Amino acid sequence: MANQRFLVTAALPYSNGRLHVGHIAGAYLPADTYVRYRRARGDDVRFICGSDDNGVANLIAAHNENSSPEEISARYNAQQKRDFAGLGVEFDIYGGTHQPDYVDLHNRTSQEVFLKLHEKGCFVKRTSEQLFDPQIEKFLPDRYVKGRCYHKLPDGSDCDYPGAYGDQCEHCGNSIDPVQLINPVSTITGSTPIPKRTTHWYMRLDQFEKQLRTWLDSQTGWRPTVLNFTRGLLDEGLPERAMTRDLDWGVPVPLDDPDAAGKVLYVWFDAPIGYVSFTAMDCRISDGDESAYAAWWKNPDCKIVHFIGEDNIIFHAMIWPAMLMAEGSYELPHNVVANSFLNIKFPGKDEEKISKSRGSALWIEDYLQTFDPDPLRYYLTAIAPETQRTTFDVDDFLNRNNSELLATLGNFVNRTMTFAHKYFDGQVPVAGERNDTDLAQLEACKSCVESAAQQLDGFHFKAALAEVMNLARKGNGYFDATAPFRTRKTDLASCARAVNICLQTVRTLTTVMAPFLPFSAVKALTMLNLEPDALQWNRATDELPAGRSLGEPQLLFKKLDADELFDD
Ligand code: 2FM
Ligand code: ZN
Repeated sequence: MANQRFLVTAALPYSNGRLHVGHIAGAYLPADTYVRYRRARGDDVRFICGSDDNGVANLIAAHNENSSPEEISARYNAQQKRDFAGLGVEFDIYGGTHQPDYVDLHNRTSQEVFLKLHEKGCFVKRTSEQLFDPQIEKFLPDRYVKGRCYHKLPDGSDCDYPGAYGDQCEHCGNSIDPVQLINPVSTITGSTPIPKRTTHWYMRLDQFEKQLRTWLDSQTGWRPTVLNFTRGLLDEGLPERAMTRDLDWGVPVPLDDPDAAGKVLYVWFDAPIGYVSFTAMDCRISDGDESAYAAWWKNPDCKIVHFIGEDNIIFHAMIWPAMLMAEGSYELPHNVVANSFLNIKFPGKDEEKISKSRGSALWIEDYLQTFDPDPLRYYLTAIAPETQRTTFDVDDFLNRNNSELLATLGNFVNRTMTFAHKYFDGQVPVAGERNDTDLAQLEACKSCVESAAQQLDGFHFKAALAEVMNLARKGNGYFDATAPFRTRKTDLASCARAVNICLQTVRTLTTVMAPFLPFSAVKALTMLNLEPDALQWNRATDELPAGRSLGEPQLLFKKLDADELFDD
């Protein structure tokens, strides 16, 4: 197939905190793996991300840390960049919706979209009572207010969760209208808010119900979780949603209307537009022409793929596509790939939800101080929450590193390379005449390349990684069965043949492991004395010629120990 063009995005993390393993498993690792794979296929890919700096989440962090939203978002944006780089999650651009270099272009892009929707009659302006904190004289949108949830649970009982936020109840997952919260309190002052009238622009999502349904029905290859959730929302009917807020932090509402004064766009209106404004910035930097973003966003030959966590489905599979339909000149997403959340289990403790406030999280910054990135990439893909919540179990992480990554993949590569060095002068030995066992092993290499590709094309990362590990397992089986350590004394030709096949298998493994374990793949490339273009997918089964000199063997993985991860 001819090369294709892909615009891949990963959800913009709020710049109000550090990243933990749950974030990485949800959106960033599968996105990076996919991008590396597509590039290995020769596709033309842009990989876009950056921080979500606007909205109440950052204002609360600024308040709690006695700082300003500018300082908070700059600090965490920089920290996130370091965490991603340390894990090998390599974006083409990492912007930020309120970062100094990005904010003008981002505001302009967001305002243009808002104005276009406004001209097209997609908003209705309404004045209604909203919650207001009289002590600080501020309205309390979204997370600025907490209260008891008023929703019903699927079994018909009341949710009644006492800590529901003004945008969403974390217990039942429903969206919240803050004025309906029972016993609301201001999260800034703790006081009881009073109702006060204010004007906002509400998007008429009902105008897009039919178009959204037809579009969703025509999608193939989407995860059922995403389709079912979105269809469920459509079945309930789409209420109007306010797309503006009473805040002094965000993208100013671009209307010449006294009611718009002091108002900004809702953070979920401008955040996905961040994908576009960061693409435009990337085009400005790399092509010298920011208008080239259209070649990615307004081009039917470009596939747009959004990687997100499950709590973002409503925004990416419904509201964002409705915004794009309303705007009219953009292409709609080709796929919205959502993972579920991770639970965490520390040694000797019960499994729990990852929570920053309870301190039950494994932070990337802390992990990287002690460990290499690939073992984490391996484990997070092996337990990927692709269809349901899964658990990061620290003991299991260590076990699987030691018994799978090290004992299967690392061991196969290591025993092959050291053997070739010790007994064949660090060169690829002659292949000789291959028998059925040898040919079956080469066939296993070919079929691994095909089946891993098929799984990756379908966004089944866990299954694709299993194919790679399966080939390593077969490599070990072949090594044991052909026993070069024995034949070197009895039948040197068959010893050479077996080592040759093992080296061909290492060569294939190098390419197919690269999207998952990029750092280890580079080490393997060096050991095989190959150039980076050997990672192209269609070269995965290119034969290493006999006589080729190999690089020095080095260990791909280390045995890991719980004590290293937690010193407390
Ligand atoms: O849930 C979150 O972390 C949001 N900041 C994701 C935004 S994704 C996008 F639309 F920008
Ligand atoms: Zn609830």
